[in-house]
Amino acid sequence: MNDNNQTDQRDPVRVFEGVVPHSLLEYMNSSIDTARHEWRPADGRRAATMARNFAELLRASDSFNAMESRACSAARGWAAVVLGKELNGEPLYVLRCVDSGMPSQSYLRHYDSHILTILIILQLADGYDRCGDLVVYKRQRESISLIANVRTKTWLMIEHALPLPVRRALLDRDRSRGRCDRIVCLPGNAYVFNGFVTLHSNFDVESGERRSLIIHYYDPGLTAGLQRITQTFRGFRDRLADLF
Ligand SMILES: [Fe+2]
Repeated sequence: MNDNNQTDQRDPVRVFEGVVPHSLLEYMNSSIDTARHEWRPADGRRAATMARNFAELLRASDSFNAMESRACSAARGWAAVVLGKELNGEPLYVLRCVDSGMPSQSYLRHYDSHILTILIILQLADGYDRCGDLVVYKRQRESISLIANVRTKTWLMIEHALPLPVRRALLDRDRSRGRCDRIVCLPGNAYVFNGFVTLHSNFDVESGERRSLIIHYYDPGLTAGLQRITQTFRGFRDRLADLF
C-alpha cells in the first residue's frame, strides 16, 4: 500500500486487513486512556506488560494468529538464508503513543534491531498531512555485516540530532524523488515488514494522538553495544526537546 492506496509485490510492507476485532480496539484504547497520564519517558513508548497483554488478547483471534504464524515463519526462513542464523526468542512488545508535544519522535529514519516488525494502529491522529503516518524506503539495504550495521546506525543517530525542519526536509526530498512511500494505515489492520533491512520513519503529529502496538521479532544480535548508546543519546535528546 502506498500514497495511492494500491499494493504491488515490490512493496516492502505487507498489509493484513481486519485482523483486529473492533471491540478489542475499543478495549485497548480505553485501557490506555486509564493509564496514559502516568506514561514516561517523553517518547511516548510503553514497553512490556500492557503491550504484551494486548498481544495475548490478539492471539485469541484466528485471523491474527494465522497472520502472525505466517509472518514469523517467513522471517525465520529469511534469517536462515540471508544471515545463516536460526533465530528464536521472545518478541519485544511496544506501545507507542505520540501527540503534537513530541516533535523529537518524528522524522527519525532508522532500521530496527529485529528482523520482523508487526505494526498495529490502535488510534489515528487527526488530519492527514501530519498524522504520524509510517514512511518506508523501497530499496532495502544489502550490507548487513556487524561493521556495516554499526556504521549505518551511528550515521543515522547523528542525523537524529538534526533539527526537526531539517529531518523533515530530508524525508520530503526522498519522497519527491520516489525513494520512499507513505503507508496510510488503518486501525484493525496489521502492517508487516522487515525493519532490519527496510529504512523507515514517521511523520509528526499535529493534532490528536496516534497510538500503535508494535511487536518486534528475532534480534540477530548485530546491534552490539549500540543499543545502550542509542538509549542514552535518546534520553539526552528528549530532555533537550522538553526544555525547548
Ligand atoms: Fe522501527
